[in-house]
Amino acid sequence: MLATAEEVGRRAARVVLEELEAGRLAALGVATGSSPARVYEELAAAGARWEGVEVFALDEYVGLPPGHPESYAAVVDRQVRAPLGLDPRRVHVPDGGAADLDAAGAAYERALAERGGVDVQLLGIGATGHIGFNEPGSSFTSRTRVVELADRTVADNARFFDRPEDVPRRALTQGVATIGTARRHVLLAQGAAKAGAVRAALEGEVSTDCPASALRTFDDVLVLLDPAAASLLDQRTTGRPRPVPA
Ligand code: F6R
Repeated sequence: MLATAEEVGRRAARVVLEELEAGRLAALGVATGSSPARVYEELAAAGARWEGVEVFALDEYVGLPPGHPESYAAVVDRQVRAPLGLDPRRVHVPDGGAADLDAAGAAYERALAERGGVDVQLLGIGATGHIGFNEPGSSFTSRTRVVELADRTVADNARFFDRPEDVPRRALTQGVATIGTARRHVLLAQGAAKAGAVRAALEGEVSTDCPASALRTFDDVLVLLDPAAASLLDQRTTGRPRPVPA
């Protein structure tokens, strides 16, 4: 647990930069949404050299018009590619607009495999316990595929759209097993709305009821939480007493 949400972003950026400086970052896995926004600002501010680094997004909505500003292709372009000065050919997002989405999922798996998988995967967690868009019930052996978003996820993501009915209800997402192939994982969670999912992921059963609990089966996972996101954890997990509510 870290003292502030800002510190969560800074620490995650430090992990990425250390891997980059050590020459171990051939591919960076990026999440979209609010959780990693600070990380991308920190990475841009670091003025590092990113030539040769491939970037892979976790997921993309299905059903948005091409070029929609809230498509994850557009978000990754705005928040990651442009600030880091990356070659667009090195930035990969699942093709949620493909006519054949199964083929697009398989093509994404091939692209990941051809580049040797992701070195550092940044992850947020949904209030449902999703990672990527793997909602409860997603198999731990799942690969990139089309999924239905949970009602809670659609409601949570409505903040990015003009009208709630504009939020897509499907997505093309890396599977739990796909995410598990990354060499290192950094999960970020900030805010009380994530506290229940964080507790389920870290202290509940390892089960498809909480896809983020699969992190406990991965090799190298760093979980960065602010006090609100950590507020329902047992102190044996955080090493600190639970913050007392004001
Ligand atoms: C986004 C993604 C999702 C988000 C999660 C948290 O690419 O895969 O798992 O990380 O929904 O979203 P925020 O950070 O907006 O709370």
